[in-house]
Formats: sequence, C-alpha cells, structure tokens
Amino acid sequence: MTKPNVYVTRMIPQKGLDMLYEFCDAEVWEGETPPPREVLLERVRGRDGLLPLLTDTIDSALMDAAGPQLKIIANYAVGYDNIDVAAATDRGIMVTNTPGVLTETTADFAFALLMATARRIAEGMDYVRAGKWQTWGPKLLLGQDIHGATLGIIGMGRIGTAVARRAQGFGMRILYYDPYCREDRGAALGAQCVDLDTLLAESDFVSIHVPLTDDTYHMIDAEALCKMKPSAVLINTARGPVVDPDALYAALKDGVIAFTGLDVTEPEPLPAEDKLLSLNNIIVCPHIASASVATRTKMATMAATNLIAVLIKGERPPNLVNPDCIKS
Ligand code: DGY
Repeated sequence: MTKPNVYVTRMIPQKGLDMLYEFCDAEVWEGETPPPREVLLERVRGRDGLLPLLTDTIDSALMDAAGPQLKIIANYAVGYDNIDVAAATDRGIMVTNTPGVLTETTADFAFALLMATARRIAEGMDYVRAGKWQTWGPKLLLGQDIHGATLGIIGMGRIGTAVARRAQGFGMRILYYDPYCREDRGAALGAQCVDLDTLLAESDFVSIHVPLTDDTYHMIDAEALCKMKPSAVLINTARGPVVDPDALYAALKDGVIAFTGLDVTEPEPLPAEDKLLSLNNIIVCPHIASASVATRTKMATMAATNLIAVLIKGERPPNLVNPDCIKS
C-alpha cells in the first residue's frame, strides 16, 4: 500500500517527525527560515497532507496548487490565522491546530514578561553589563509592584485563564474582558468580568489573549491606549496585529502608557531598525512564549497525530477547527 504523501514546512521536534516517517511519505523543508512562497507552491503539489507553521500563509491559491487530493492541513500552532479556513472548508479540507499543550507554557511566559517589565529586569541586566553599577541606590531602577496590582486579561480562553491562576497566586486583583462572553470563566479565580473600557481604565497590567481575527485586528489602537493608566503596562503574547504598532509607539513615546512587553509583533520578524526598538520602555522577544522543549515536542506529536488520524486511520482528527468541512 502506498503511504500518504505529506509536506512539513520546517524541522519540527524529532518525535513528531518520527511519527510521520513511520506512517507517511514525508518531505521536510530543512531551512532555518520558512520556504519561500514559490517553493511552497511548488512543493505542496500532489500532497495528501500539509504540516505548516504559523509563518506559512496557507491561502486558496496554495490549496489549489496542492490539488484536490489534499485532505488535511495540520497547523503546528494553536493559532491558525495563517490559514484561510473558509477556503479550506469550501474545498472539504480539514484544518487542525494544537490547543491545550501550550497553555501553561505560554501563560508562564506572559507572566514572565509581566514581571520583567514591572521590575525592569532587562534594564537591570543592561546596566550591570554596561559597567554602570557603582553602588546600591535608593532610587535605582524603581519599578512597579505586582502583588496587589490590578491585572486586566483580554480573552479568557485557556491561556487567559492560566494567566489568571498565576495572578491569583500573586495576590493581584483580576479583571477580564472576553469578546466571546465566557462570563463564567473567571468566577472560581475571583476574577471580575468587565467591559473593555473598564478593564483598560482600571488595570495596572493588561495582558492580551485573543486570537487574531477581523474583529480583533488593531483592537488595541490609539483610542484604547488613551483609556489606559499612564503607569500601565501592556503585555502581548497573542498575535502582533491585535495591537496597532504605530499607536503603541506613540503611546510609549508620549507617556500615554508606561511600558510594554511583547512576544509578538507586527510585522514579524520585527526589523532591528523598527522605531519601537528605539524606545527604552519596551521588551520584545521573538515569539517564543510556547518555546519549551517539552511543549514544542507535544505540539509536534499533536500535529502528527492529527495528520495520521485523517490519512492513515480515516478518522476525524482530534483537533479539527472546521467541522463544517465534513460533508454529511
Ligand atoms: C501558537 O501556537 O499559536 C503560538 O503562537 C506559537 O506556539
């Protein structure tokens, strides 16, 4: 029996690749950076399954280039804004993601950014490295307390809830706004569901945990930033384009808000010469919130499991995001 033919757009952790090699005829793009668009369009041709990353745009043209036998796109991410899901559904192609396995790791990182920004950890390191540390100083690198502060969580899904649990342990007051009206989610954590304006006005720290959709694109714009406290810190570990980068730059420069910690940016990667990086009230990391060895390995086996469920077992994959693609 011929094995299904799959294309993997980057070297994912070996455990996931081993699963694919056992059951499929798998080709892997071995470059450090994503396959260029024209290469991707050419390499997907005739594949039964694709395992792309969030850095690959999987649109209708790419699905058409793959051909009618393409059955599944198993994204190596929980977010799937890189995929035109409606186009996949129209073509009867299943789309899957990797929910759950990265929740705690991503929440750890959101909290790490919150703490690093509040307590000026990166600036402290720069100060020591630059040889500026002369003595203990009563006013040296004063930051903000985390305990007792108010945290506003935008999006009380899995990751937002996991961040709330961490905040509870730090004795924070927790507010949340959930665009999907999951108003019951915070009750057990002592978190209070509020509207977005109240959250922005009352929070010392605002942490974003919504997917990127047409509705959340530039959700945090100049108007939203103006509603925040001048001492507030904005944390984004969700998707860069949820925040308008020009408005954020102006807000940080003009003291509309105090600080930001970003793991995601618009664009990605953020060029070294980007104006945001000229500011000193910012920490930027290269989209690494889920980057622990254990979590990235689980994401790889989860994506492979989804592919194998469809292509080998003929089953509905465990993490199907577009059930409407299955015609009854
Ligand atoms: C995701 O999975 O969507 C993250 O952004 C990367 O792990």
